[in-house]
Amino acid sequence: MEVPSFESVKVAVRVRPFNQREKNAGSRCVISMHSGTTTIIHDPKNPEHMKTFTFDLAYWSHSGFQRDKDGVLISTGSNSDFAGQKDVFRDLGQGILDSAWQGYNATLLAYGQTGSGKSYSMIGYGADKGIIPNVCEELFKATENKEKNQQYQVTFSMLEIYNEEVRDLLSKTKKPRGLKVREDQHQGFYVDGLTSVPCDSYAQIERLMEQGIKARTTAATSMNATSSRSHMVITIQFKQVFLDGDLTKQSIINLVDLAGSERQKSSGSEGDRLREGSRVNLSLTTLGNVISALADVAMGKRVLHIPYRDSVLTRLLQSALGGNSKTIMIAAISPADICYEETLSTLRYAERTKKIKNKAVINTSPTEKLIKQLKAENNRLLSRLAGLGNSGKRVADKTRELEHLLAKNQARLQTIQITWEHQLEEAQKEWEEQYSTITQERQMMKAFPYLFNVNEDPQLTGVLKHFILAGSSNVGQAASNKIILQGLGISDKHATFTNMDGEVTVMPQSKCRVVVNGVPTVTKTKLQHLDRVILGSNSAYLYIGFPSERSNDDVTRFDYDFFQSELAAAEGVSMDKLGAGNKRDGKVDPSVLAVFQDYIKLIPLVAEANQMSKELMKGLILELKVKNLTSSDSKGYDLQKEVIVKVTHRETREVWIWSKAKFINRKYLMEEIYRHFLDGEDIGVAQEDDPFWDPVEAIHLGSAHVWLQSLAYCMKLEEQAELLNSEGLEEAVVLINIIPCSSTGQAYSEDDMVIDPLELLGKRIDFQIQILKCLGVKWLQEDARRGIQIGYKIYDLQTTLYTKPVWKTVNAKIEETIHFVALNASHEFLNYLQKNALIVDLWGLQEGCAELNCTQKELTTWEGHVMVDVKTSPAEAASQATSNQMAELYLKLLKLEEETEVLRNRNRALREENVLLKDSLRGCAPGQGRYHKLSNKSRIITQPASHKDTPQTCSPRTSYDADFAKALKVFYQRMNIVRGQFLKLRHYRPPDDDQMLRPFIQRQSHLLKDIGELLEDSLWKLKNDVALIVKKKRESLVHTKYRGSSFP
Ligand SMILES: Nc1ncnc2c1ncn2[C@@H]1O[C@H](COP(=O)(O)OP(=O)(O)O)[C@@H](O)[C@H]1O
Ligand SMILES: [Mg+2]
Repeated sequence: MEVPSFESVKVAVRVRPFNQREKNAGSRCVISMHSGTTTIIHDPKNPEHMKTFTFDLAYWSHSGFQRDKDGVLISTGSNSDFAGQKDVFRDLGQGILDSAWQGYNATLLAYGQTGSGKSYSMIGYGADKGIIPNVCEELFKATENKEKNQQYQVTFSMLEIYNEEVRDLLSKTKKPRGLKVREDQHQGFYVDGLTSVPCDSYAQIERLMEQGIKARTTAATSMNATSSRSHMVITIQFKQVFLDGDLTKQSIINLVDLAGSERQKSSGSEGDRLREGSRVNLSLTTLGNVISALADVAMGKRVLHIPYRDSVLTRLLQSALGGNSKTIMIAAISPADICYEETLSTLRYAERTKKIKNKAVINTSPTEKLIKQLKAENNRLLSRLAGLGNSGKRVADKTRELEHLLAKNQARLQTIQITWEHQLEEAQKEWEEQYSTITQERQMMKAFPYLFNVNEDPQLTGVLKHFILAGSSNVGQAASNKIILQGLGISDKHATFTNMDGEVTVMPQSKCRVVVNGVPTVTKTKLQHLDRVILGSNSAYLYIGFPSERSNDDVTRFDYDFFQSELAAAEGVSMDKLGAGNKRDGKVDPSVLAVFQDYIKLIPLVAEANQMSKELMKGLILELKVKNLTSSDSKGYDLQKEVIVKVTHRETREVWIWSKAKFINRKYLMEEIYRHFLDGEDIGVAQEDDPFWDPVEAIHLGSAHVWLQSLAYCMKLEEQAELLNSEGLEEAVVLINIIPCSSTGQAYSEDDMVIDPLELLGKRIDFQIQILKCLGVKWLQEDARRGIQIGYKIYDLQTTLYTKPVWKTVNAKIEETIHFVALNASHEFLNYLQKNALIVDLWGLQEGCAELNCTQKELTTWEGHVMVDVKTSPAEAASQATSNQMAELYLKLLKLEEETEVLRNRNRALREENVLLKDSLRGCAPGQGRYHKLSNKSRIITQPASHKDTPQTCSPRTSYDADFAKALKVFYQRMNIVRGQFLKLRHYRPPDDDQMLRPFIQRQSHLLKDIGELLEDSLWKLKNDVALIVKKKRESLVHTKYRGSSFP
């Protein structure tokens, strides 16, 4: 027995160039590398803050490159640190080859988030060939110089693990639920029945790989699977047979392109009733657990159990991790700031992996001895079989197991005994047909127009080609079609392509979805070179025209995102419409970019979910919507938007709103059921486990802003507020009054208003919110069985108040009044009233759903009041505020201070005027010192009772103030109207139809004009009123003076 070689897993990091999405976002690079081993990552939120990692190798593939004449990326010169495919192969690939020649098992794993460059390093793109093809090519090159008494045997297999099922990528038949992973005392874990093709040239391997990727692509399109969630494993068995020494040296090389490592948080199941799609990530999670456990072992910690057996992937990789293999991991990372969290997590993962210690041995075995061993074992198995009883289930199971082992040993014996040449010959025969199709395809590409597939994963793009031969070709799932296409939403006979007179057209069958350049078509449509065609829910193809139409086109421009953006544009969603027009320093607002990316990511998923719902007869209709959160901001600021999915049941008209995370989770669960359905299995699930089902719930329909400013001036507000939905369309109108009142609920009159809200500081404020009616509720117009409730939350009240439910009426009478009290009005509260709106939410109730809790009873004091502006102690407040909130609070504070300053100035000006007036009064009416006190009154218009006490002589003074107050009141009321119109204007959406654009703009400019006129008019009126008051005052002063001078 050889002495094992103890070695740690070797780890390399590679950072790729920016991709288009990152460039669009104006991303910054957060990675730097030094001396070939050090990787530094900078926190974009805090650039001082950085982390340094050291690995065996650090590859800078981010910049300093150019394309050579063959299209290969190479370094720009000696001052560039660029590492190309050749460099990576030299360090890592060569190591694998050396191991293989020595008889060690070798494993190469590529880890990283989707799009980070795993497949680029492993397989490569076009002329930039990755490690796998290079390893294979070099292996065969070296075997060409073989010595006479040696034989080299190479076999190749390729599999994919998706959702814990193993799919043989080289098999022509598909096994439902995939192949089984079994355990064997010689081999360890292995995939039972996996195709393993004997090869004797690199060309053969190249074609097999092409075949395997094709199978993967077909599976991804027809089985509706996401390649980013699947692992691909290529296994090369390399045997060196020393013919005269009766010795075989064997190496198993595993090359693993892992599923995207992105953490589940962003696409997980938080907030969903149902768990995350159960087994979608099991393999990757278990791999993480195995690596952590092994890293602990290496650190000398006591570890009881390494969970290899918990997933398919870790079973197959058992020897690669901590066992008999020389193992390398390549950690692929994105350079962009927007990927910081993911990249950091990848680097941490790599850090743990590098600690793992393996013990590789050279695998040699004497051939004769092996034959003897196998024969002896067969005899043992036979006698055990004979010894078993002949009844009972356990016996039957055992018999089956022993028979299986026996058959396998026989097969192994056979492979050893049949000559290698014979095996090669057989393989060659079997694959001939496949090889010839590939060669034929290359010829046809030069002669005919064709469609090629565009996949979300660029590695799978351009793999499937469908040629459009002269005449007409039907397309669809049925075998009778000239072009057979599998895929969600593709009918048996879906469409007809016609190639005639140098023209290609597509004609959809009735009700079959065909989308050309983003627009659904129902008629015969002529195709132009590079047109984008979507068939069914989401099978995307690029049309390549006749050879004469082609030039040096860059087809990579038409990637998956391009297709989806085109669809979004047709639905009226684009970056510009979402608000990317407001660029800050040339950079698109990252939040707008994020919503847009979410939107185009979900378009195909929603189409697929709808199709599955249809085929499984679940009756759900899903619609993608962009929700504008402005309506939930009490200041009416343009807040972030988010993507939501509205779900409606076709028959019951029940409605649900799903968040993006919930939808993605449900989508995976739906796929699981759908795959079983396609496999012809029973798909009955209990209602509570059904991803297509949820209990009915109250739905948020829309919100209205009711500005509270008038309350700050003790003025009554009677509003008819439009409740707008998240798209800015009217859902209903709510009649709501906000009435300042006395402690007993007596409404204040017009004369009770104040000029400066600060006068209310520290005083008791009583007011009532009356919700009278909700008119023209669309929710009920759609379905009369429904109901509504209205909810609102004011200032620091911890809970939302809901009105009682009203069912089955389009114009709901609500008539609820709540009396609020602020005992000791704070600065903050008064500011809040001036700057904020009350958000009134309309909730839709549907049959069988729980009504929203009306909690006002629990909140009211014994007097029947609800208390607001109840201060928390600073310590309490501070402990509640997280650091995030602190920043927000600080900004608010600054703003408040600014506002206070304005108010102070206003106050000062008024006071000065007061003093002036007083002085002149004093000057003209000496001895009437009591006017002094009046100016200190909190309300300019005093309570009626005190009115009576006021001597007649005061009346001119009070009347000016009252006039002034009235003028201001009129002004505020008009300003409220202006504000309302302005908000309305902001909610208007431009129409999708270009024809309607002109009337829209006209309406818009009319409104703007109205607002302008109203503003000017109000200002003019205010000036006029004030001028009148001043004039009146002067006149009266003159009058008093005159009187005064005439009296003494
Ligand atoms: N080192 C690199 N140099 C140039 N382009 C790269 C590199 N790594 C990745 N890319 C490009 O980035 C995209 C995503 O890479 P890919 O390898 O498919 O990601 P993954 O397999 O991790 O999902 C591809 O278009 C690929 O060409
Ligand atoms: Mg990939």
